[in-house]
Amino acid sequence: GMPSYVKIVEVGPRDGLQNEKNMVPTSVKIELIHRLISAGLSVVEATSFVSPKWVPQLADAKDVVEAVKNLEGARLPVLTPNLKGFEAAVAAGATEIAVFASASESFSKANINCTIEESLARYRDIINAATRLSIPVRGYVSCVIGCPVEGAISPSKVAYVAKQFHDMGCMEISLGDTIGIGTPGTVVPMLEAVMEVVPVEKLAVHFHDTYGQSLPNILVSLQMGISVVDSSVAGLGGCPYAKGASGNVATEDVVYMLNGLGIKTNVDLTKLLQTGDFICKFLGRPSGSKVAVAYKM
Ligand code: HMG
Ligand code: MG
Repeated sequence: GMPSYVKIVEVGPRDGLQNEKNMVPTSVKIELIHRLISAGLSVVEATSFVSPKWVPQLADAKDVVEAVKNLEGARLPVLTPNLKGFEAAVAAGATEIAVFASASESFSKANINCTIEESLARYRDIINAATRLSIPVRGYVSCVIGCPVEGAISPSKVAYVAKQFHDMGCMEISLGDTIGIGTPGTVVPMLEAVMEVVPVEKLAVHFHDTYGQSLPNILVSLQMGISVVDSSVAGLGGCPYAKGASGNVATEDVVYMLNGLGIKTNVDLTKLLQTGDFICKFLGRPSGSKVAVAYKM
């Protein structure tokens, strides 16, 4: 049945801002994270320790983490693609990390310049190092429905990578529809395949809203017992290495739906809407959240 509480993992400062055309000043990123925590979000993905040549938007990762690491009330994971990134994250004061593999060979090459197996070997090393420091690791699987290059991805490929992450000791595995092409018709069989090899309590869903399918996809995921949902304030986001990947599902819209279902999130929708307003005003464009637009009418 449906969960009574859903943990929302806010990915706006990372997945949202990694794709911005114009550089967002570090101070704005820091204020955004502050506001998200004040709105009640218990997990805010803060930034990525990736190559600044690949993702210049997050080249200030060290400064962001140093500024927010002592904030109370939320966990602040950061993405790390290799040991170099992991070591930099730990040195800056990160206490939680995420690694990211793909279910698609072509996307793995495009996004992190290595094969799926090479990436899993890197992640094994990171997870071993993290475990020695008691740092929890989240594992992302991207392209769980389809890949911008290869098209449809079979559920068995997703289950394979998810099981590898689980066996390596990831505390949570987030299943990403990177290009937002899934519908309940493809999401359900994918989740069924993954749930055969990873306990549902360990799973999160991560939908991009490219085709407007995120909320139905989240609803079927909840019906299958998943209780961790990734989203991005104001629907910011997209992956710079996935052509056509638009923003994540908006956190405001997820909270609104969960409120309507009587499912607790501990997120204050009013404060969240104000936070979305803050970042949209800064970026100079309308919100990607339908709920935010409706509240303004
Ligand atoms: P590479 O070019 O193969 O790396 O990139 P390399 O090891 O050959 O190093 C090349 C240069 O990068 C060297 O510098 C390294 O020092 C430097 P140089 O000697 O040329 O001056 N370097 C680094 N610098 C800072 N931090 C590091 C780091 N590593 C190397 N960690 C690499 C391989 C993985 C580094 C690169 O491809 C990369 O950074 N990729 C990240 C791409 C990315 O962030 N994509 C978006 C996140 S994934 C996503 O959005 C999907 C998700 O949301 C889920 C979903 O939606 O499905 C998670
Ligand atoms: Mg994403």
